[in-house]
Amino acid sequence: MLQGFNEKNKEIFVFINDKLVKREDAKVSVFDSVVQGGDAVWEGLRVYDGRVFCLDRHLERLQNSAHILCFKDVPSNEIISEAIFKTLKANKMNDGVHIRLTLTRGEKITSGMDPRLNQSGCTLIVLAEWKPPVYPDSIKLATSTIRRNNPMFLDSKIHHNNLLNNILAKIDANNAGADAGIMLDMNGFVAEANGVNLFCIRKGEVLTPFADACLPGITRELILELCREHNIPCKEKNLSLAEFYTADVVFCTGTMGELTKVSEIDGRKIINKNSLGALEQIKDLFRLKTQASGTPIG
Ligand SMILES: Cc1ncc(COP(=O)(O)O)c(C=O)c1O
Repeated sequence: MLQGFNEKNKEIFVFINDKLVKREDAKVSVFDSVVQGGDAVWEGLRVYDGRVFCLDRHLERLQNSAHILCFKDVPSNEIISEAIFKTLKANKMNDGVHIRLTLTRGEKITSGMDPRLNQSGCTLIVLAEWKPPVYPDSIKLATSTIRRNNPMFLDSKIHHNNLLNNILAKIDANNAGADAGIMLDMNGFVAEANGVNLFCIRKGEVLTPFADACLPGITRELILELCREHNIPCKEKNLSLAEFYTADVVFCTGTMGELTKVSEIDGRKIINKNSLGALEQIKDLFRLKTQASGTPIG
């Protein structure tokens, strides 16, 4: 699955620091930390019917990531929300939109790793594009040789721009003819795929790996909450590939693609032996949530 270029995104305005600029002028300095060290944090958000979905949860995760990385002069949630709203209004966007929100440590006074060289505050980028959910009805996964970080290394709870591990896993998937690469944790349990969280349903129970070596995805969190609210049995546990291969249903979750069924993993078809309709039920509950909540574009 390869995303295409959407002509509607040719003329978009992008917010950088305190300015809205045309797509072709949307650039950061070569001294910016994101260029020098991938030293930035980010969020992917969606807009449904004039509302930014889960804005508060995304801002909380962004602020936590920036705090863990000791960013200085971080813009407040009010300033970031205002920048998002301004961008959406400038582009007349209110539905079918994906926002890539990036906060870098900012510009350095000279090249170097030391964050004390960053003396002019963070760089805030709001890139909103016309982009309905990107995945087809179902996708194939292949297991990558690249492990997902656990807290012993770079904690996966930080949503940072150092994405090379995940990019290598995606390259493995591309080479295997799959849509995304499964990343295992250091004990060989499934952590997540390179850009989405993973779930399986076994005999009516919805299961997902502990968030020890995966991004604690906001969609993942919502699915667990929806299951609990609607008495659908669910739990977080260590899950091996064997348990995914033999599950009745496997699906992935993320803001970019919402909930997507997985048809095959490493050449094994996922066979719904117990004819469960649980994924359809969860998808309906998620759809209702997107229709009934979110922060209005102010
Ligand atoms: C590695 C990874 N896993 C999972 C997700 C899904 O998270 P969310 O549901 O918050 O979009 C993302 C999204 O950015 C991601 O980068």
